[in-house]
Amino acid sequence: MSTAPEIARLAACGVVPVVVIDEVEIAVPLAQALLAGGIDVIEITLRRPAAMAALEKVARELPEILPVAGTVVTPQQAAEVQNAGARAVVSPGFTESVDEAMRKTGLPWLPGVATASDCMRAVSAGRLHCKFFPAEQAGGVPGLKALSGPFPQMKFCPTGGVSLANLGNYLALPQVLCVGGSWLVPADAVKNRDWAQVTKLAREAREKVAELRG
Ligand code: 3PG
Repeated sequence: MSTAPEIARLAACGVVPVVVIDEVEIAVPLAQALLAGGIDVIEITLRRPAAMAALEKVARELPEILPVAGTVVTPQQAAEVQNAGARAVVSPGFTESVDEAMRKTGLPWLPGVATASDCMRAVSAGRLHCKFFPAEQAGGVPGLKALSGPFPQMKFCPTGGVSLANLGNYLALPQVLCVGGSWLVPADAVKNRDWAQVTKLAREAREKVAELRG
């Protein structure tokens, strides 16, 4: 499977901030704070009513950041995030119905996998780029190494329990494209509109990625 440019962009960034947005008006300053720290991708999760409008606003107003829709769990959401301007989509798991809906959108999709059966389903559907979720809870680095053994054609974005402290262990694996996590945008920083803190965390993460990749 060829790598979509959007997936290549996630891989180049190395870290994908997973964000929860409660108020549409913070979406752009938050994304700008990430950009200021060198992160040019953002995964806006559909976990709050404001998410779709936030995604739309970021996609429209900040062309320099790659807008990714996260927590897409129904076929209907797949169509909606495309209309909102998402350029890639992430789900916590894999279902045939979301796979089919994603195919209609033509957008790159990273379904979530945590077991060999999940990987078999994803591979059968030609989905070779997957989220490994929840990464730490599903076995962490040793778990991913064991899981990916039978699936050498797959690449993963481990997410769930990933932080600055352990991202290097994942990124050292050749089967890891990038890592994702909410540590880059802590709830407190969002609540306090502490964009300097978001920029600092983004910069730290990008420096770590650069150091690891030499
Ligand atoms: C996700 O949906 O990707 C996870 O909730 C992120 O996990 P984290 O909060 O442990 O980074």
